[in-house]
Amino acid sequence: MADLTVLSVASEVYPLIKTGGLADVAGALPLALAKEGIEVHTVIPGYPAVLQALEKAQSRPEVVHSNADFFGGPAQVIAAKVHGLSLLVVDAPHLYARPGNPYLGPDGLDWPDNGLRFAALSWMAAEIGKGTISHMQPDIIHAHDWQAGLALAYQKLGNTRHTPSVMTVHNLAFQGRFPATQLSALRLPTAAFATEGLEFHGDISFLKAGLHYADRITTVSPTYAVEILGSDSGMGFDGLLRARAEVLSGILNGIDTDVWNPAADATLAAPYDAKHVARKALNKQALQKHFGLAHNPKALVFGVVSRLSGQKGLDLLLECLPVAVGLGAQLVVLGAGDKGLEQAFQQAAVEHQGQIGCVIGYNEALAHLVQAGADALLIPSRFEPCGLTQLCALRYGTIPVVARVGGLADTVIDLNEMAKKAGVATGIQFAPVTTNGLTSAIRRTSQAWADRPLWKAMQKRGMLTDVSWAEPAKHYAALYRELVASSRAKTAVL
Ligand code: ADP
Ligand code: GLC
Repeated sequence: MADLTVLSVASEVYPLIKTGGLADVAGALPLALAKEGIEVHTVIPGYPAVLQALEKAQSRPEVVHSNADFFGGPAQVIAAKVHGLSLLVVDAPHLYARPGNPYLGPDGLDWPDNGLRFAALSWMAAEIGKGTISHMQPDIIHAHDWQAGLALAYQKLGNTRHTPSVMTVHNLAFQGRFPATQLSALRLPTAAFATEGLEFHGDISFLKAGLHYADRITTVSPTYAVEILGSDSGMGFDGLLRARAEVLSGILNGIDTDVWNPAADATLAAPYDAKHVARKALNKQALQKHFGLAHNPKALVFGVVSRLSGQKGLDLLLECLPVAVGLGAQLVVLGAGDKGLEQAFQQAAVEHQGQIGCVIGYNEALAHLVQAGADALLIPSRFEPCGLTQLCALRYGTIPVVARVGGLADTVIDLNEMAKKAGVATGIQFAPVTTNGLTSAIRRTSQAWADRPLWKAMQKRGMLTDVSWAEPAKHYAALYRELVASSRAKTAVL
């Protein structure tokens, strides 16, 4: 029986709709929290993919709220249980009945009314927080990223009951900025447009709203929680975050170890576990075939599964390709995003046919095959709030080769001399995040690959590392309970 109810607000939730790690977290954390006695209801926009998923709901979808004038059209909230998640779907066709990417139109640009779309999501969450839906009074509102940030503003600015709130920053780079002229359309009071409010460099920032009005702020790794206090990584919010450092903490992400389980992964050529790592070779063979690489069990295969954006540092990898190719390594890249990077990797695959392979696009099943078939996974991110693919790599016996930043620094134990002696390394880290840094990491990986017993020991340690949500969920549960207790204590004093 749950003793605490959380209203989670997210713009994407795996397996319904996903563009990145935010969806993975929003989809997996509620399941882990259930084991901690915490019930989570997730407010999500009714995109076509989400409404379709309702058709396969485990409970009969039920309309629990209607609103005839919801930011320019009618809306209803549909409650249903889907994939083990308790969803509150905001069905507002004028805002969300658009297939494909949740943020971008067919021209690849942000929908022009994104401000309204995610203000509406947040407004509905704040309404539910007030108790608008009968039999549902959450103890906590938990907003994820800028798309949910205004929920915390609406409820603090409204003269109603305040539900304790948590804002989780998955990525400070996405700030939800909209022109100040939209204030009234977004139902925001002019007074809130202030430094001590949601104003950010002359714009409205939904992320700033969340950071300013939240009772607690979390981010997705302890190292990122420290990095963002400095002007190099704070992306303009470091001053605010320093001022609020007492309520800021970093809780590391986990991964869903049922979704990412090499022993029972239907997308693989051959399932395997820590006792049967040799079977990984069959997946390597399938991977080499899929990406048009020479079938060579001895070649070190590097994999990349990533959004192609400046954050991920893959432009550095392009510069290191001659070294990697010269060492006899192979490379597979699965990714999509920046058109220049897409073309550059496609071009590299043409130039180094049989040694470099590239698939442009978003392909969940293929991401699993890369994790299973590659020997090492490259993540040269310039910054990385947490990163999930290195956790998947650990679980799949694939050696993560990562930049020493954010959550990558917190989750991979570098094969330095002492770690080697102590027998604790699980991967390779490098710093600074430059072409030279990455080049030397590639060389070090190649040397480690040549030392079979060392490599196998690292693989095994990685596979036995706990990358699940079990531990992080306990931290969230403790945070929620502490917050509820301190809010009750405050109310009692008043
Ligand atoms: P971010 O959220 O910054 O993109 P994360 O590492 O936290 O980075 O999460 C990325 C998630 O998206 C992982 O689950 C990863 O497997 C997945 N992913 C990224 N790119 C692709 C792709 N091209 N195809 C399939 N899955 C992808
Ligand atoms: C963001 C970050 C990534 C993190 C993910 C989930 O997209 O870029 O580092 O793992 O959110 O928290």
